[in-house]
Amino acid sequence: MYSPEPIGIHPEPMAEILEPRIRICLISGSIRPGNYTSMAVNVAMEALAGHPGIGVDLVSPENLDLPFPGSGRETEDQSWLKDRVKSATGVILATPEYHGSFSSVMKLVIENLGFPSLLSGKPVSLLGVAAGSIGAIKSLEQLRSVCSHIGAIVLPGPVSIANVRDTFSAEGDLVDETVRKRIERLVQQHLDYIESHVCPQYALEAMVRQTN
Ligand SMILES: Cc1cc2nc3c(=O)[nH]c(=O)nc-3n(C[C@H](O)[C@H](O)[C@H](O)COP(=O)(O)O)c2cc1C
Repeated sequence: MYSPEPIGIHPEPMAEILEPRIRICLISGSIRPGNYTSMAVNVAMEALAGHPGIGVDLVSPENLDLPFPGSGRETEDQSWLKDRVKSATGVILATPEYHGSFSSVMKLVIENLGFPSLLSGKPVSLLGVAAGSIGAIKSLEQLRSVCSHIGAIVLPGPVSIANVRDTFSAEGDLVDETVRKRIERLVQQHLDYIESHVCPQYALEAMVRQTN
């Protein structure tokens, strides 16, 4: 039987207004074949899979045609990347430590997110992966600085994985379970921040829209 939508009533059920769908975008900063950064990203994805109802987008730059800044080129992949980040409630950036900094691939991703950046105002958590024993401290500090500069809300508690070749097997299996716990904590803190600071804002905006 045809039942028309009542005029002025929001078509979404109240539960969806109060509990908006959360989307997390994970971006890997390594395109090296067999890279360890993607292995760490996989652990974060497994942690997110334990939270039902959360959408996850994975950005693997090796598959993307991203123009250098200032080249004047625009690509479909750049638009795809921008859409992923724009629709994300939060973003997790994972970078390898290369030459005492974060990777140029990660910088290229950031350059392709516009100016002002689509990361502005987004909660961002950082994960760093290094072969060396001091870990990815330098890359994480520099990435934090860049993300803060472009207006991202960089959450505390980045995870630095040192001696990564002892952390994962060459096949990508995690051999150090303490690293899983640290990545799970990072994911949990990211989701907790969103629940306490972003979801109430969404709910308020939806209610205001409903009354207008
Ligand atoms: C160009 C380049 C520079 C690197 N510089 C460093 C470094 O400064 N410190 C370090 O601990 N490891 C360094 N590494 C090793 C990476 O940290 C290592 O490959 C690690 O697995 C993370 O990178 P991946 O995700 O590409 O595997 C470097 C690797 C490359 C390819």
